[in-house]
Amino acid sequence: MLEVTGLSISYGKHRAVSGVSLQVAPGELVVMLGANGAGKSSLLRAVGGMLRPMAGTAMRLDGTDLLALPAHRFVDAGLALVPEGRGVFADLTVAENLALGAFTPRARSGEARQRERVFALFPRLVQRQRQRVGTMSGGEQQMVAIGRAMMSAPRILLLDEPSLGLSPLLCHELFRAIAGICKQGIGVLLVEQNAPQSLAIADRGLLLENGCIAGQGSAAELRADPAVRSAYLGAH
Ligand SMILES: Nc1ncnc2c1ncn2[C@@H]1O[C@H](COP(=O)(O)OP(=O)(O)O)[C@@H](O)[C@H]1O
Ligand SMILES: [Mg+2]
Repeated sequence: MLEVTGLSISYGKHRAVSGVSLQVAPGELVVMLGANGAGKSSLLRAVGGMLRPMAGTAMRLDGTDLLALPAHRFVDAGLALVPEGRGVFADLTVAENLALGAFTPRARSGEARQRERVFALFPRLVQRQRQRVGTMSGGEQQMVAIGRAMMSAPRILLLDEPSLGLSPLLCHELFRAIAGICKQGIGVLLVEQNAPQSLAIADRGLLLENGCIAGQGSAAELRADPAVRSAYLGAH
């Protein structure tokens, strides 16, 4: 269980996130919706250890105090972040990118089994293992990025706008794979602009506005909420 309490982030004098609390249970899919600049990426980077939050923030994963760890230990603790823009190594092959994801001792010992799981989630990567990632489509590169994160055998996966710029077909494949990741017992915190598709697969949703939680509920509640429908689901 990921438990974040009172998370605040500032860039100098600019406060990007203010006192956000959230939880993600094993196997749960929580989607975070919010406009550009709401603070979604900052929040994910802080939870993933890429950014130190302000004093007063508490973050625990299965009881471990994450903020007592140096940033490079977050992956071994069980958190994996797929940042906006993917962060794959374009000059390396699919197989090499996946191998790099299993860099911690815990992941290395289960590398072969994790690779099988990644290929079960993303069957189109099986035939592409020797292909350079830079020559693949955006959707396929996103699959490699998520696959690489899965190679670290995370307990919590953090995804920052994975569907951005993908074709409808690849979007559909991607969301199905994300639902499959949760079925393996992994908790997913998904930041998305694609509210209809993400609320269709999520258990719960959070609305982030100006760095604060402005609403939350089950995915079914949010899909039925008139304010959510007009702001995020394109209904008028
Ligand atoms: N590295 C940075 N330095 C200064 N301000 C930043 C930085 N990254 C983000 N911000 C600011 O923090 C706010 C939240 O940004 P971000 O977390 O990227 O939001 P979102 O992902 O929801 O679009 C914005 O006002 C943005 O301009
Ligand atoms: Mg962002």
